[in-house]
Amino acid sequence: MRKIVKQTYKSMITGLSYAVPKKILTNSDLESIVDTSDEWIRSRTGMVERHIGDETTATSDLATEAASKALKKAGIKAKDLDIIIVATVTGDTPFPATACYIQKNLGATKAAAFDISAACSGFLYGLTIADTFIANGAYKNILVIGAEMLSKITDYTDRTTCVLFGDGAGAAVVQPSDGTRGIVHTYIHSDGRLTDLLIMPGGGSRKPATHETIDQHLHYIKMEGPEVFKAAVKAMGDAAVEALKSAGIKSSQLALLIPHQANIRIIQATARRIKLPYEKVFVNVDKYGNTSAASIPIALTEAVEQGRLQRDDYCLLVSFGGGFTTGAVLLKI
Ligand code: ACO
Repeated sequence: MRKIVKQTYKSMITGLSYAVPKKILTNSDLESIVDTSDEWIRSRTGMVERHIGDETTATSDLATEAASKALKKAGIKAKDLDIIIVATVTGDTPFPATACYIQKNLGATKAAAFDISAACSGFLYGLTIADTFIANGAYKNILVIGAEMLSKITDYTDRTTCVLFGDGAGAAVVQPSDGTRGIVHTYIHSDGRLTDLLIMPGGGSRKPATHETIDQHLHYIKMEGPEVFKAAVKAMGDAAVEALKSAGIKSSQLALLIPHQANIRIIQATARRIKLPYEKVFVNVDKYGNTSAASIPIALTEAVEQGRLQRDDYCLLVSFGGGFTTGAVLLKI
């Protein structure tokens, strides 16, 4: 058996939680909106339902709820936070940062708050930044949030995308490790050659909002589904292999793989790539659809709540997303 590389754990997650809107949009609801079927959606994606926010709910509302619960679990007060990092592509406004709205809601007056844009990999990019800040001794109490309201940028006349996405938020408090466990290894990578595969073309400096951009539906997600699928299978597999290799552990030593919940077939392919039995893979894509940056923190919270992770277990988080961005974080629980 390969030996585990001796780790010096710098940071660990001390509180986790999530929030989703109450309203559920089922596959059969979608059958009455576009030309699709429950059978098609289940067999091609593994999705059954997703949570969708109402008109008045913004990303910071869900994120604040998730963050408040995570802070409580960590046993720290918002005013003690040093940094708030929010991963999102559906912020409340193009600027200021959604992190600043959440800071106000929480009363985290001491913190520096900022957003990062790495689509579905955003939460893992956020964990990587938090781990680095803690490792270099700069900060102690960091809140990392992945939060999205993809329903607000989903075109419900486009059957190739509208069945896929849901809303939600997940939050983690990251603090210095107790020395025996925590973040073992982080890996992030991007491939800017693939930007056009998954994009919201309108509303930025390239195509500012005009009547024309609205008429052309440019303020919605556009996706080359099969191309994204192929790139995702490769990127998620590569990231998982790299993380295990760098950390010096074998996949048989993993208690659980928590992949980004985009499509059951991408999840299965990632597990096959590292030869992991399917019972060691966490899946909730059936309940939430693809919630982008929120997907991994929601799944990690549920995995802990369901007792799928015990103290000292190795858990591998892996993601891919628009950009293309890829991430992997290995945790010792
Ligand atoms: N209902 C019924 N039929 C549909 C639907 C639908 N909702 N959507 C597409 N189809 C049809 C297509 O029109 C096509 O019909 P045709 O053969 O007559 O042309 C047929 O189904 C097959 O379409 P494909 O796109 O080839 O289907 P595929 O098996 O590739 O599945 C899917 C499509 C689910 C989108 C898949 O490609 C996928 O999951 N891609 C990755 C998507 C993803 O993960 N995106 C998120 C990235 S993360 C982020 O950053 C947000």
